[in-house]
Amino acid sequence: MRMILAVWLPAAVALAAAVPSTAGSDPIAIYQIVGDAIPAPLDDLDGDPVRGRAIVAGRKGNCLACHEAPIPEEPFHGNLGPPLDGIGSRASSGALRLRLVAPRTLNPDTVMPAFHQVEGLRRVLAPHRGSPILAAQEIEDVIAYLLTLR
Ligand code: HEC
Repeated sequence: MRMILAVWLPAAVALAAAVPSTAGSDPIAIYQIVGDAIPAPLDDLDGDPVRGRAIVAGRKGNCLACHEAPIPEEPFHGNLGPPLDGIGSRASSGALRLRLVAPRTLNPDTVMPAFHQVEGLRRVLAPHRGSPILAAQEIEDVIAYLLTLR
């Protein structure tokens, strides 16, 4: 009995950490990093490039605060990060997924936000704790849009 408990407990703790139970928050998808990518779509979802463009252009993703992108109706684009024009021919969907979900696995000092993480973040405002910036579907939408930038 004791042996069985010892095996079970860590699994339960790991699950609890991966799926925060805060009411009303978006759950974090379980993903696997392979090399410098997350090859599989989060939760097996299909992305929609039109929704993705709206997220990149809008306040939720706020990507234009740091990146230039071919979104002419938004006047101010930052240059803290590399331009996103042409990213679809430079990066695979899996590479983009890792950069959006967990960019600090590649560069621990990056200012690029971890858009689909709730653990290991610094100074998150109380109302946002336990909720990722972008839900799994929104991550897949953003990837679908970025892949059109060729
Ligand atoms: C606070 C600034 C900031 C915001 C906001 C931001 N990024 Fe970034 N991003 C960066 C920086 C800086 C890098 C360079 C990589 C590094 O620092 O390691 C980067 C890297 C990237 C890369 C890899 C580019 C390449 O050529 O390798 C992609 C793709 C990307 N960001 C997409 C996005 C998208 C999409 C959003 C919005 C959902 C976003 N970023 C929001 C700062 C930001």
